[in-house]
Amino acid sequence: MRIEDSVESPPQALLERLKDYGQEDAFALWDELSPPERQFLVKDIESLDLSRIDRIIRCSIRSQGLPMAAIEPVPESEVSTVEGRTVEQRERWWKMGLKAISDGKLAVLLLSGGQGTRLGSSDPKGCFNIGLPSGKSLFQIQAERIMCVQKLAARAAKEGSIVPVSIHWYIMTSPFTDEATRKFFESHKYFGLEANQVTFFQQGTMPCISKDGRFIMETPYRVAKAPDGNGGVYSALRYSKLLEDMAARGVKYIDCYGVDNALVRVADPTFLGYFIEKGSDAAAKVVRKAYPQEKVGVFVRRGKGGPLTVVEYSDLDTTLASAINQQTGRLRLCWSNVCLHMFSLDFLNQVADALEKDSIYHLAEKKIPSIHGYTAGLKMEQFVFDAFPYTPSTALFEVVREEEFAPVKNANGSSFDTPDSARLLVLRLHTRWVVAAGGFLTHSVPLYATGVEVSPLCSYAGENLEAICRGRTFHAPCEIAF
Ligand code: UD1
Repeated sequence: MRIEDSVESPPQALLERLKDYGQEDAFALWDELSPPERQFLVKDIESLDLSRIDRIIRCSIRSQGLPMAAIEPVPESEVSTVEGRTVEQRERWWKMGLKAISDGKLAVLLLSGGQGTRLGSSDPKGCFNIGLPSGKSLFQIQAERIMCVQKLAARAAKEGSIVPVSIHWYIMTSPFTDEATRKFFESHKYFGLEANQVTFFQQGTMPCISKDGRFIMETPYRVAKAPDGNGGVYSALRYSKLLEDMAARGVKYIDCYGVDNALVRVADPTFLGYFIEKGSDAAAKVVRKAYPQEKVGVFVRRGKGGPLTVVEYSDLDTTLASAINQQTGRLRLCWSNVCLHMFSLDFLNQVADALEKDSIYHLAEKKIPSIHGYTAGLKMEQFVFDAFPYTPSTALFEVVREEEFAPVKNANGSSFDTPDSARLLVLRLHTRWVVAAGGFLTHSVPLYATGVEVSPLCSYAGENLEAICRGRTFHAPCEIAF
């Protein structure tokens, strides 16, 4: 039946399918709709994979009622700690990582479907300028870090001469960030990257539901929907056939990260070398949790010897969050997730299938905009860290917080994780690099409030700065670039 034919009464076949899944109320206000609204509603419902959504709703509601194994801390002995590493190991991993990169085995996967609601911005978070002297956006900083690693890998591959190295960048957007993200990249000429080394793809959305699993209507002719969480990356990669695309490019390892960290070491050769040597399916960078209420998920085991997983900050009760390990004096649950993960392509394939088969989503209670005003309902989301319990070999790799974690979550004026706090973390780290490379600083504002910024095109992690900095004086704030 053509949609035009369906404006008089609800299309029978569609109505029957909705009835099969107990969702026929979606057509409850049909009689009150204008013809274009009726057409819109039909299209809206037709765009939903009703049997999949029904399976997800049932599996997710059922799993909520199941008992969960107790939360157990991850002992330090199971983590590759900063203190436990030798210089030889670090150098070996760095070289191994660069070699794999120059062989084209690494792709970078950016999770960029989130809206900057807490940041108070309607633009995608990656467009945000945190006020560094260069004025660079988070996207630009990340693109330039990729370019820097390409250059380092190219140099390492062939002493003396440079072979071209290209790291493919997969960028997941959502219906809310897609157009603006693509336009931003186009208008900035991909920040110097080749346009064909960047692939955008969209995560999906899921209907918002009432506690008994019925669709909430945002308007009389539209089902309320929300992005399916950053774990929507697995089904999005699957549906858009990008796992095959990665395989066709010869990719074996995927560095996956969140957009909102100004210090993120994208395509980190050391992390990659560690991952390859360890032979794991999955790995995550962690930092020690700074204080009990810090808004970070923590790595735990579910049951003694059970699978490694993350408990999100919103799900961790305050007593557990503040519990102290009496032997170390540190927080018992201390390994913070910084949303920096490494996966093998084989594992991504397995986990994308397994998550789809299990169909269990997190159900988050939220106020949903609806025809009855804001109404209590459930958003269905997967989290990127939902993959970890699917392998016994997840490896945790501690990194130094001040070197790799500058979260940009809240608007300036909030007390933590703001553009201002992230900017200062970048300036402090880069100032230390410059001083270590023999540079000097003058400053007209107190040093704790300023510093220098090193362009990622000059240095990835503080290396190769002597030629630019030794004996030179820089007036902070400024950017050091070629
Ligand atoms: C996230 C982690 C948390 C970690 C913290 C560190 C998840 C689910 N939580 O929390 O454990 O301690 O970062 O900073 O990973 N995103 C999408 N699509 C979505 C939602 C989010 O792509 O539907 C992206 C965002 O653009 C961002 C990343 O996922 O790049 C993290 O998203 P956000 O929801 O802000 O996570 P946090 O609550 O900060």
